[in-house]
Amino acid sequence: MELREAIRTNGTVRAFTDDPVERSTVLDVLDDARYAPSGGNRQPWRVAIVEDTTLRRSLADLMQPVWDEYLETSGSGSAPFNAIDYLAPVRVSPGKPNALLDAIETVPVVLAIAADLRSVALMDGELDRPPITGGASIYPFCWSLLLSARAHGLGGVMTTFLSRAEPAAAPLLGLPDHCALVATIFLGVPEHRPTKLKRNPVESFVTIDRFDAPGS
Ligand SMILES: Cc1cc2nc3c(=O)[nH]c(=O)nc-3n(C[C@H](O)[C@H](O)[C@H](O)COP(=O)(O)O)c2cc1C
Repeated sequence: MELREAIRTNGTVRAFTDDPVERSTVLDVLDDARYAPSGGNRQPWRVAIVEDTTLRRSLADLMQPVWDEYLETSGSGSAPFNAIDYLAPVRVSPGKPNALLDAIETVPVVLAIAADLRSVALMDGELDRPPITGGASIYPFCWSLLLSARAHGLGGVMTTFLSRAEPAAAPLLGLPDHCALVATIFLGVPEHRPTKLKRNPVESFVTIDRFDAPGS
């Protein structure tokens, strides 16, 4: 597939057929993803291919309350979990349906992605706001992984809700202290592949010279 077409049509897939995905295919995908860029080429990614269904269930049980909170607050005006004006809800009703979590045992591939923080330059780590640049050394890897999955006839979704439960998830996954959980990626053969993606037009986010200048 032509590169531009792949970039523009790699939609999120959350429902998979029963087709199994061999571990060797997953390793092939990771073999592509490792060519992603990272600060200083330090390649901080660590990946646990989560195959054990009991472990998967435990992880889903940790993600569920985060999903519940997300749904409780989406539509409230501010983006859920944002660091500027998010207000956690007083009460969250539990157990909202989530196809991925409800049937995590049968999702063809579950990947826990971690970053070795000893290899991540946090260039904005001392500013008076939450740091974000560290992610730049790990999320290109995740995106390359999803693009490679597409090339292998797979689809998937990157999620971050397990990060909110990292302290509880860490011992289950044997996550070292110097690592952060950055994503859980689900992959499989798509039941349906969305390729018409809704994105804001360029003029909605581009200005010339200054961010507070009029639009381009
Ligand atoms: C950082 C990040 C976190 C995400 N977390 C979730 C998630 O927790 N659950 C989920 O179903 N999708 C998750 N997604 C997928 C987004 O919902 C998806 O990329 C977005 O809605 C655009 O969908 P589309 O590519 O199909 O147009 C996440 C995506 C990113 C990049």
